[in-house]
Amino acid sequence: MAEIGVDLFKAAVILKNDDVVAIPTETVYGLAANGLSAKAITKVFEVKNRPAFDPLIVHTSSLDRIFEFVEMVPEKAMTLFKQFSPGPLTILLPKNNIIPDIVTSGLPLVGIRIPNHTITLELLKDLPFPLAAPSANPFGYVSPTQASHVQDQLGNKIPYILDGGSCVVGVESTIVGFEGNKTIIYRQGGITKEAIESTLGESIETRISSSKPMAPGMLQSHYAPGKKIILGDIKSLIDNNINKKIAILSFATDFQTGNDYILSKTSNLAEAAQNLFAHLRAMDALDIDVIFAEYVPNLGIGRAINDRLKRAAFHEN
Ligand code: TXA
Ligand code: MG
Repeated sequence: MAEIGVDLFKAAVILKNDDVVAIPTETVYGLAANGLSAKAITKVFEVKNRPAFDPLIVHTSSLDRIFEFVEMVPEKAMTLFKQFSPGPLTILLPKNNIIPDIVTSGLPLVGIRIPNHTITLELLKDLPFPLAAPSANPFGYVSPTQASHVQDQLGNKIPYILDGGSCVVGVESTIVGFEGNKTIIYRQGGITKEAIESTLGESIETRISSSKPMAPGMLQSHYAPGKKIILGDIKSLIDNNINKKIAILSFATDFQTGNDYILSKTSNLAEAAQNLFAHLRAMDALDIDVIFAEYVPNLGIGRAINDRLKRAAFHEN
């Protein structure tokens, strides 16, 4: 099993040796490696069982350091970074040669993010390199929001988990890029579309899922637990399935079935985002046939929650 602790020196030594460390961020835990070392990055792909076509986000500690990794930063990108960093925002920028091709799966753009978590920012400040880090879960599964989640799934494959408590945002960063003059959201996340639109003073397009995604986080089935999830009107789903062993994932209502997971009893979307992945994990461990779930209001961070619910519920066939 991995050691869990708060020893930044130990984490730094492991990373300098081209090995991986799980790190907390405000969104989800990441599986971090030296972002300038192809050898270290290879390990990340192996541990996660991640396909080589799925690029990694590069994490750094300050706006100044971004220029070490990219050819240029467009004005709009700078405006967004200044407004939302450190925070749950990733921006796709033209990479320079210092970033190995394996990080971006051969793409010319690299995702850059400054995470907002005290101990991880401290670690990043002390390291002479950035950290490439995908979410610390096996590919396609629900992202971890607690150190124990990482331990449960990757503990036998990694040496160290830096414990930063429960992630306060709970869904991944928003991924933004630019196509000509247009700003595009490729993944909905912790920074809302509304906030980006009001900062840039323009309306932003969101590219929804496809079978040939720009970002594999856009794959139709992703962020998925093993149990079958059906999205719909929970009351009628319960009434029409009286013989099934069920669990309920609701936004705010207690349906009192005995297996009830409520995202936010006070209908608070930020709290719902915090609870989403931990609830899905807990429900996955139950002895049930199916999970009935419902969408939350589709605004603000609710858009990211609904996106993850939809992907978690997607079934081939
Ligand atoms: O909140 C987050 O972003 C977390 C924490 C650990 O920072 N990280 C995260 O990484 O969610 P990951 O690898 O699980 O998801 C990153 C997504 C992937 O779907 C990947 O395809 C996309 O970002 N991505 C990364 N670099 C990209 C690039 N250059 N072009 C297009 N998509 C990219
Ligand atoms: Mg992920």
